[in-house]
Amino acid sequence: MALQDPPSASKCVVITGASGLLGRAVSQTFSAAGWRTVGLAFSRAHLHPNLVKLDITDKVAFENLIQREKPDVIVHCAAEKDPDAAANKPEETKRLNVDATRDLAECARRHGVFLIYISTDYVFDGESPPYKEDAVPHPLNKYGESKLAGEQAVLEVNPDGAAVLRISVLYGAVEKLSESAITVLFEKVQDPSKPAVISNYERRYPTHAKDIAAGILVLAEARLKSDAVKGIYHHSTAECLTKYEMVRQMAAVLGPSWTLNHIKADSEKPTSGAARPFDAQLSCERLQQLGAPPCVSFADGIREVLLPFARSQLTGFFC
Ligand SMILES: NC(=O)c1ccc[n+]([C@@H]2O[C@H](COP(=O)([O-])OP(=O)(O)OC[C@H]3O[C@@H](n4cnc5c(N)ncnc54)[C@H](OP(=O)(O)O)[C@@H]3O)[C@@H](O)[C@H]2O)c1
Repeated sequence: MALQDPPSASKCVVITGASGLLGRAVSQTFSAAGWRTVGLAFSRAHLHPNLVKLDITDKVAFENLIQREKPDVIVHCAAEKDPDAAANKPEETKRLNVDATRDLAECARRHGVFLIYISTDYVFDGESPPYKEDAVPHPLNKYGESKLAGEQAVLEVNPDGAAVLRISVLYGAVEKLSESAITVLFEKVQDPSKPAVISNYERRYPTHAKDIAAGILVLAEARLKSDAVKGIYHHSTAECLTKYEMVRQMAAVLGPSWTLNHIKADSEKPTSGAARPFDAQLSCERLQQLGAPPCVSFADGIREVLLPFARSQLTGFFC
């Protein structure tokens, strides 16, 4: 007799950072696949009544939650993700990105729960892409250092019961444009009265949060079938764009009323802010072998994401 999957509703996932850009997509994807989802939020919990308010730096509160909910999988999205904020607040960033991650990994091991830790392509210096899962990391900034230290903590504490999933820069169904390093660029497109300069230097791989969430689901379901699923995985689009090229695509897909006459491309290496890798392209074979579906094209993904913002502006304009 062929082995059958247990009924999906019997699976439970706890998602940290469920009020954030990726965590919201992860919650939707797992719910749609029939999982019971327990999403955690902190400062934005009041905006998401379906989420549990919990400070993940409080390890006793987290342990109590895991004891109560008995999840099969924890997807750990919560983090300080802004490289400039991480450079300005190194202690707070360490507490969240490293110390709380270690505590979560210990808790997951004690309870036999598979942990998926979301990390970043910023663990690489961007000098010799593409990076395989076993490439040697060399972060250029405090954010990348903290995420790498989080990876090391997870794999040290729980080598057989955890996965690290490195991903590239995200866009998706944002609550406001400033929520993603990609959608925030549209603010510059929106105001033709303000001349703007946008980088045409560093190479990026903008990936839709729902594609990452689909990959996380593949990883979680594969682990429930095989304990060999563990260690480091990568997930990203293969589409390479500079920020200026992204902005050109935004204007092109939204229609002829969006012009870029006020925007200049800057092809020089940026000199301000935290250092960032030039090209940290991730090679994603391990997750593809597990069956991760391909990513949407940037043109299609960004059109869907920006349409509500573009429409509201045009409606206001013509009123
Ligand atoms: N965004 C990107 O471009 C990108 C690229 C590569 C990797 N990543 C990684 O992907 C993951 C998700 O990123 P994201 O863009 O979804 O981040 P995000 O939108 O900034 O969300 C961060 C989440 O962390 C939660 N959080 C912060 N402090 C907390 C605390 N003390 N206790 C509990 N929760 C706390 C926030 O909750 P509240 O808001 O409710 O406080 C929020 O839900 C991160 O690990 C990040 O490093 C992101």
